[in-house]
Amino acid sequence: MMLPEVQVSDIARWEGQEVTLKGWLYHLRKKGRLVFLLVRDGSGTIQAVVFKKEVAPEVFDLAQSLSQESAIIVRGIVRRDERAPIGYEISVQTVVLVHAATDYPITPKEHGTGFLMDHRHLWLRSAKQQAVLRIRSRMMRACQAFFDDRGFLRLDTPILTPAACEGTTTLFETPYFGETAYLSQSGQLYNEATAMAFGKVYCFGPTFRAEKSKTRRHLTEFWMIEPEMAYADLDDTMDLAEDFLVYLAAQALEHCQQELRTLDRDLSKLEAIQKPFPRITYAEAVELLHSQGHDFEFGSDFGAPDENAISSQFHRPVMIHRWPADCKAFYMKRAPDEPNIVLGVDVIAPDGYGEIIGGGQREDDYGTLEARIEEHKLPRESFEWYLDLRRYGSVPHAGFGLGLERLVTWMAGIHHLRETIPFPRLMDRLQP
Ligand code: 4AD
Ligand code: MG
Repeated sequence: MMLPEVQVSDIARWEGQEVTLKGWLYHLRKKGRLVFLLVRDGSGTIQAVVFKKEVAPEVFDLAQSLSQESAIIVRGIVRRDERAPIGYEISVQTVVLVHAATDYPITPKEHGTGFLMDHRHLWLRSAKQQAVLRIRSRMMRACQAFFDDRGFLRLDTPILTPAACEGTTTLFETPYFGETAYLSQSGQLYNEATAMAFGKVYCFGPTFRAEKSKTRRHLTEFWMIEPEMAYADLDDTMDLAEDFLVYLAAQALEHCQQELRTLDRDLSKLEAIQKPFPRITYAEAVELLHSQGHDFEFGSDFGAPDENAISSQFHRPVMIHRWPADCKAFYMKRAPDEPNIVLGVDVIAPDGYGEIIGGGQREDDYGTLEARIEEHKLPRESFEWYLDLRRYGSVPHAGFGLGLERLVTWMAGIHHLRETIPFPRLMDRLQP
């Protein structure tokens, strides 16, 4: 008779029935005539109990000799058990060894981060990493659903590009049939074109920055979701960012309970992500720093310690808007009343998770934008198409970019963003 092949994630359906489970041995514990196999099948882990009296002698011998991460197929009966972490366990009838793993390098003892990063391809199997990456997957889904449900069209932008979007110092170059191409730092400029064609758009994909910073907030390859709206201004983009983050936190709370528990996340921190978010100008943020006795020069960009000092004053994300033009990219819209101020916004997460969103209103005036391109010494030829958007039916428009890994770091409440992407790319890491 063929037994139903089941998954741990939906084991409750199979209570009292005889099933087959395909997976790997996560952990083994022996106690007298009992062997407890913790079996991981990718969807979760479940305890499978082998009782000497109930199985053939060779099955018991095999069970107690199994090594960590060996591939196994377990057959048995699903039983309700209040004491089990997931409320169920399997009473084993037989075990089939598919592949015996020898000397799995990641043991239950503590390992250093360097070692774990070198073994990232295996580290992914560990409970905490599984929880973080499940949250990532859920957040990706939620990011798309939010914009899909609000009439935004997903139109992805190229990764190989002829010019810089976010400054020329962090570009990755690659030869391109006799020309030079750059890996995209942001899809924004192309989003502006699709927004003029389709009104409300977003892109979602990997972006690249040759960041020479070894911080817990910087990857060289990260994913960004970027909405862009025609006929929209700075306030519209702040409203959208606020609704978006409230929605994402609610989705994490609704769908990632088990993962958040595995990570010991303080749920009250996520429950606190409610409207309205404080909105302060750059000038007010500087005043706040000065009032706390911080030494900060007006006109410079905030570093991580400054961001942390500002965000520590609030329990919700804080939106800092109206920035000195010199801090920001060439495309930012000038404030009509203050030519040295641009209508940009940064959203800083609470509790030291740093900037998670950057965006604002875009320069829609042809002459002003042309002057900025020149001022920033950007190659004019590569921006002709971008200037076209201001030649033909230019309108106020705005949008932002959210860094997925920073979002997941914050939602999961973990220290370093390298654990939020399956294979992190950092300044000093291209392997595995
Ligand atoms: O503030 P940034 O540079 O903004 C842009 O790229 C705009 N063109 C987006 C737009 O308006 N469409 O980057 C946006 C976000 C940051 O707030 C941060 O969350 C993330 O991208 N980010 C990084 N995440 C990980 N590693 C890095 N090196 C990052 N650089 C930016
Ligand atoms: Mg930024």
